[in-house]
Amino acid sequence: MTDAPAVLGIETSCDETAVAVVRGYRVLSNVLASQVDAHARFGGVVPEVAARAHVEAIRALTHRALAEAGMHQMDLDAIAATRGPGLAGALMVGFSYGKALAWALDTPFLGIDHMEGHLFAPRLDDPEYGPPAIVLLASGGHSQIVHLKDWGEYETLGSTIDDAAGEAFDKLARFLGLGYPGGPAIDRESEGGDPDAVRFPRALPDRPFDFSFSGLKTSVVTYVRKHHAAGTLPPIPDLAASIQEAIADVLVAKTFNAVEETGVRALAGGGGVLANRRLRARLAEEADRRGVALHLPSVAMCTDNGAMVAAAGVYRLGLGERTAPSADIDSSLRLG
Ligand code: KG4
Ligand code: ZN
Repeated sequence: MTDAPAVLGIETSCDETAVAVVRGYRVLSNVLASQVDAHARFGGVVPEVAARAHVEAIRALTHRALAEAGMHQMDLDAIAATRGPGLAGALMVGFSYGKALAWALDTPFLGIDHMEGHLFAPRLDDPEYGPPAIVLLASGGHSQIVHLKDWGEYETLGSTIDDAAGEAFDKLARFLGLGYPGGPAIDRESEGGDPDAVRFPRALPDRPFDFSFSGLKTSVVTYVRKHHAAGTLPPIPDLAASIQEAIADVLVAKTFNAVEETGVRALAGGGGVLANRRLRARLAEEADRRGVALHLPSVAMCTDNGAMVAAAGVYRLGLGERTAPSADIDSSLRLG
């Protein structure tokens, strides 16, 4: 196993600077510099602030990832960095740093699709995970259901027709004054709340695997304004739990539509929203009830991290792929 290639993975597509060393699909180190404090006072991610914070953190973090893995940079078999999708300025930092380091070390460089990274994350925790599987990917910028037909062969069965699930969490948390990032805030506030306190609408567009979350947003805003004015607003934990339930319901329903329709008996997930405790519990319940194998990565592997980028790098390296030094980031890269 020590012969498996060691890949350094760099992730800077949004608001976390993350670096990891993975050998084969085993995580040797996985370190992260969160920018939450830098963005919190703005109530959301400020692209320029994100890019600058990546510049400040990337070098020391890379050294830490190598030290924690007990490795010297000369021992790396490849360097992988997120190429897109994400914020252009933020992507450019990790991608350029990775390319320069690879060039200096004369080692292969691989530009990685961030969403392919999320697809590979469950593989780091769970050797049983692999194709064929249905994978629910839900993050701040993307929500999609993917049919993992084979490694490298991804069919997007459905996606959001408006806001991503994470975006819905973030916008509604901000509206309720719960701060940024919104998903973890709603998850936390929901504890002890009644998920049936308010029945917010579940938009289920005609297309069986597509989501929509903008109607939920409008409905929550209307509800809160009306009941606040009347002095009949339920406590925040009840509101948070009811919002969380509505989002989870839609994601679970659409995901299992895909499981049933394709007949694929394995389900996985990735992206920050899959860190949500209620969503994880609902997916587990439903998978259990239907006899579907569930492969959910640990919470740390759901949110953005360097290990998932390195894992996709291990796979791409194995195919003999190399990203040319002239390659650029692609902020609107699409899976497949
Ligand atoms: O995958 P990710 O870390 O970054 C992107 O690629 O966007 O996902 C971030 C998103 C944010 O919208 C955040 O609010 C959401 O994931 N998120 C959560 C939770 N943790 C992070 N949403 C719901 N519950 C959580 N516990
Ligand atoms: Zn992500």
